[in-house]
Amino acid sequence: MTSTEPKTRITILEVNNIGKSYGAVNALAGISTVVNAGQVTCVLGDNGAGKSTFIKILAGAHTPSEGQLLLDGEPVTFSSPRAALDRGIATVYQDLAVVPLMPVWRNFFLGSELTRGSGPFRRLDVKEMKRITLTELLNMGIDLRDVDQPIGTLSGGERQCVAIARAVYFGARVLILDEPTAALGVKQSGVVLRYIARARDRGLGVVFITHNPHHAFPVGDRFLLLNRGESIGDFEKSKITLGELTSLMAGGAELDSLTHELERELGADSPLVKELEAENQQAE
Ligand SMILES: Nc1ncnc2c1ncn2[C@@H]1O[C@H](COP(=O)(O)OP(=O)(O)O)[C@@H](O)[C@H]1O
Ligand SMILES: [Mg+2]
Repeated sequence: MTSTEPKTRITILEVNNIGKSYGAVNALAGISTVVNAGQVTCVLGDNGAGKSTFIKILAGAHTPSEGQLLLDGEPVTFSSPRAALDRGIATVYQDLAVVPLMPVWRNFFLGSELTRGSGPFRRLDVKEMKRITLTELLNMGIDLRDVDQPIGTLSGGERQCVAIARAVYFGARVLILDEPTAALGVKQSGVVLRYIARARDRGLGVVFITHNPHHAFPVGDRFLLLNRGESIGDFEKSKITLGELTSLMAGGAELDSLTHELERELGADSPLVKELEAENQQAE
């Protein structure tokens, strides 16, 4: 390799026209985007937009009703979250699966504990696990003096960061984060955004779910906007401004809530509701 070679984008995951229905409920339809190595794909949308459904499909928790996922250019179907994880797709859910009273290092290695010795002499390699946890957290810029403290004593933001560092250490190529900043204040959100950028800089493809364009825009390379299960666009950063992103989000949400409100008042058959629904469609 020479330094004059242009940077090539390596696409890890490609989403083609994915749809999902739960019985009669169409939760998602016609969603397409890509996740590139060393980039952040943001998925934006209000409550009920289909964000969680979308990532559950990427994470192997749901199978899509329509469309296709390509991993390294090959079609894949994941039979379970474990199967997706084995292919390097790690998901950090908002309600982190941590054991609050367990030390940070135990949570870091939960389910993948290191051991030393063999046969009857096999035991947990506590010292090594502590050392690695401390180093990995430091590499992500998290300075915990004591990895022995219960993870429950960490702030929500710090816990998100430990989960991110863990996914990086265990070799994730794609890191999916479901609203990691939703429950956090401004300062802690900033901290989490910084770790998202760190994971990206280490070459991971990050899928960052949020309903906040101000969180998405600074770290995002691509923005997929969802509204009531449909895509209102999938933009590269060079193709959209923060202002446009915000108004697209707000426009969809406002029209939607107005339509819902009137539907309750006037009934779904009212001409005004029909008109607004048509306008909703047009806005997309
Ligand atoms: N397991 C399910 N069964 C039936 N409907 C569901 C299920 N999960 C989600 N939905 C519906 O699908 C739509 C999208 O939900 P969701 O993906 O959770 O949105 P978001 O995460 O953006 O808030 C909503 O209308 C929701 O009620
Ligand atoms: Mg959700």
